[in-house]
Amino acid sequence: MRIGFFGCGNMGQALAFGFKNSKSQLIEQYFYTPSKTKAQELAIKTGGHFIENVNEMPTDLDWYVLAFKPQSLNEFSFQFNESAKILSVLAGTGIDTLEKKFKISKVARLMPNTPSQLGMGANLFYSPFEASEMTGLLESLGKLFIMSSEKELDAITAFSGSGPALIFEFARIFEKHLNAMSGGNPQAKEIIAQTFLGSAKLLENSISSGVTFETLREQVTSKKGVTYEALQILEKNDLDNILGGAFTAAHKRTLELKKGI
Ligand SMILES: NC(=O)c1ccc[n+]([C@@H]2O[C@H](COP(=O)([O-])OP(=O)(O)OC[C@H]3O[C@@H](n4cnc5c(N)ncnc54)[C@H](OP(=O)(O)O)[C@@H]3O)[C@@H](O)[C@H]2O)c1
Repeated sequence: MRIGFFGCGNMGQALAFGFKNSKSQLIEQYFYTPSKTKAQELAIKTGGHFIENVNEMPTDLDWYVLAFKPQSLNEFSFQFNESAKILSVLAGTGIDTLEKKFKISKVARLMPNTPSQLGMGANLFYSPFEASEMTGLLESLGKLFIMSSEKELDAITAFSGSGPALIFEFARIFEKHLNAMSGGNPQAKEIIAQTFLGSAKLLENSISSGVTFETLREQVTSKKGVTYEALQILEKNDLDNILGGAFTAAHKRTLELKKGI
């Protein structure tokens, strides 16, 4: 399969490395970015082709990946063939907007997340047309969740696309307080990363065993014990409501991007 990338930042790179390591298909990749550097570097690292000027991107590729920010859509211009297939990772930007802009009828959307770099992504995909060759490839980036509508994809974006950032923020706060309370510990990062990793594994195992996330929490919490005291503070300060507000704000922003705001 031959794939052209417009945009080679965090997401473009995660996808290109994942595709390169795909065992399901032989992949040839082409990379373009306005400032050239990132496309050049990615072409070298993946053994792909560097495209210096946007109009030199071949027009007969199997798929094109739009991997730039939604805010760059207005300035982006390329003459796609009528039969071109686009995979867009632009948060919020609707399929109808892209179809109208490029005068094509085959646009699919992917909402990836950064653990895709390690083949551990939780990626959301929606395509209104048959796209099994692309879903096969996307499975090399981690778990692929097929959405039944764009609305569903937009609603879950705050949890999977933005989710890693929220988890990293928790990790940062853990590290800050661990260091403050222990007078600084050279293994702070390792202790926290392993705690998150082990907990994520328990979360994963709980799916097949039918144990709820709440039960997992209770298994660590004895009444009037150490963890109980910590959880009481979270409850008193309504962490549930704080996170609910964060997800609502992210969803609102997704819908604004859809309107081009
Ligand atoms: N990061 C995430 O965790 C995440 C998660 C889900 C979805 N997404 C989506 O992924 C997309 C890209 O995000 P990112 O984090 O990868 O951004 P990024 O690291 O800032 O990279 C953006 C890339 O787009 C390129 N670009 C800018 N204008 C362009 C144009 N007119 N034509 C072609 N390429 C252009 C930039 O080129 P230069 O190198 O020349 O500046 C850069 O390589 C966004 O739409 C975002 O919504 C991101």
